[in-house]
Amino acid sequence: MSKIVRFSISLERDLLKKFQRFCREERFATRSEAIRQLIHDFLARRAWVEDAEDVAGTLTLVYDHHRSQLRDQLMKLQHDHTDLVVSTLHAHLTAHLCLEVIVLRGPAKRLREIAARLRGLKGVHKGELVIAAVPQETHA
Ligand code: NI
Repeated sequence: MSKIVRFSISLERDLLKKFQRFCREERFATRSEAIRQLIHDFLARRAWVEDAEDVAGTLTLVYDHHRSQLRDQLMKLQHDHTDLVVSTLHAHLTAHLCLEVIVLRGPAKRLREIAARLRGLKGVHKGELVIAAVPQETHA
């Protein structure tokens, strides 16, 4: 077993309250125990989809449609990756905001890359990638 090290983290009071409630509900003995478990789970899940060659996913974006350049960039990136982009759902949320759900399919690594580029565009307020399916036989 590797050596235990200590480090401190800073977070918002509200988030800490939620975390403490989570620890109570999940009956973790200590907060360290809970953090260890969360980090472990997160990294394991990430590693699992890391190498998967064929996954499906959705990327949800919320953006300001008044930025005309942004609309063009979003469109161009999707047209440049028709091998990954399966379909797009668009909803006009408010006078200013649009919601777009992009269905993606392909190697997990490439989905992450295109998701990072799309949500990194200026004017995108929120971008969340959910990997929806991973082939069962990928890992023993
Ligand atoms: Ni719209």
